Amino acid sequence: MQKYRIITYGCQMNVHESEKIAGILTKLGYMQANGDEPADVVVFNTCCIRDNAERKAMGHIGMLKTEKKKNPDMIVAVVGCMTQQDGAGRALREKFPFVDIVLGTSNLALLESYIPSVAASRAKFVDINTEEKPAVNENETFFRTSGTNAWLNIMYGCNNFCTYCIVPYVRGRERSRTKEAVTDEFRRLVDEGYKEITLLGQNVNSYGNDIYGGEYGFAQLLEDLAKIDGKHRIRFMTSHPKDFNRRLIDVIAEYPNICNNIHLPVQSGSDKILKLMNRHYTRSYYLDTIAAIREKLPDCGITTDLMVGFPYEEESDFLDTLDMVEKVRYSNAFTFVYSVRKGTPAAKMPQVDPLVAKDRIMRLIEAQNRITKELSKEYENKVFEVLCEDFSPTKKGCVCGRTDSGRLVTFPGGKESIGQFCNVRINRSQSASLFGETEE
Ligand code: SAH
Ligand code: SF4
Ligand code: F3S
Repeated sequence: MQKYRIITYGCQMNVHESEKIAGILTKLGYMQANGDEPADVVVFNTCCIRDNAERKAMGHIGMLKTEKKKNPDMIVAVVGCMTQQDGAGRALREKFPFVDIVLGTSNLALLESYIPSVAASRAKFVDINTEEKPAVNENETFFRTSGTNAWLNIMYGCNNFCTYCIVPYVRGRERSRTKEAVTDEFRRLVDEGYKEITLLGQNVNSYGNDIYGGEYGFAQLLEDLAKIDGKHRIRFMTSHPKDFNRRLIDVIAEYPNICNNIHLPVQSGSDKILKLMNRHYTRSYYLDTIAAIREKLPDCGITTDLMVGFPYEEESDFLDTLDMVEKVRYSNAFTFVYSVRKGTPAAKMPQVDPLVAKDRIMRLIEAQNRITKELSKEYENKVFEVLCEDFSPTKKGCVCGRTDSGRLVTFPGGKESIGQFCNVRINRSQSASLFGETEE
């Protein structure tokens, strides 16, 4: 049987899209290659959120040249966000002539017809759809590889145009799937035995605005899904603070199967920077939202994305970000140095010295690590329900899974535990990791 390899970069959206690619390849009769085993079809599902994501993908595509020499029949496809940038499709083909297929973010389904064409006649395809609102494809087959967890797209694209971000340019405008399509897929996943379903969108809080005009939104969708019977958990990401409303907090509080875990990217703690970023909220608005979450969901794990070195960021702005981290006490934070993205408004603003940005990110990481460690201590000697997901990648004879609040726990166990909800007493913590033992 012929084999395929998919190399995925970027966010959960891409990870999930790779499951769609795997679905297409399975339908075409290919089988997943193990690790670095030679493959007949190689697909790069790329990301361009920051310069390093792009460079990593470019480097790996370049490295394939030798493998392609050994196996000239190998089919190479590059898809995903990187290809949607201005002129990127052709540039990729010119730089890497051995690439057979280049597709954008909204026409992945074409792989189904292009791969057999390449196999039959070595045809080459560059096909990037630049429509702002490409139609949502409801006829997808997935090959899910995520075990007990399943991803579920509720919407595509983004309307927010944060001044640093490339996503709206490469993913188009917001397109929500209908509530019927989402609910049907959710039910199917529950029937198939998935124990945790994560709803995906760049800004899930604006779900439905495009098709229901405010008549039906994310809080209602979440409530409707939470009412579906069965022992499973629901997570969602990402929430934009400007659209995160109180109704949503009430729904999360009311339904025990909705995880008490909210990813609420703040980006910066400085009002001046938030304005320049076009984020549409202020520091105090964000802190009010956090206070409302803490009041109704005292055990909620709150995580965030933070950026340093955005144009015009001065030491005082950075100190505001540090102060935000101290005030909110995030259970975890993804920290980034601002990276110039061509074609975005911030690319034309005066840039911060990279050495200054580097110093800031180190200080930020240090502060967040300390907080994560302190919060981990609070888990010790308490019992939590953990959904066991897999064998521990680091500890022999152990399995791992997450608490409702999203914290990773490692505990002794075997195959029989995977996919089960286990009560685990935490007996030790080490920075972000928690260790424990099951209890009856
Ligand atoms: N839609 C989500 C996430 C988008 S990308 C949201 O609105 O939060 C994930 C994170 O990457 C962002 O939250 C931001 O922190 C970071 N990011 C986006 N563009 C970036 C850039 N040009 N440089 C550095 N980090 C960036
Ligand atoms: Fe990018 Fe902002 Fe949209 Fe998130 S909300 S994807 S950061 S433009
Ligand atoms: Fe990257 Fe595209 Fe996601 S740019 S972060 S893969 S939406």
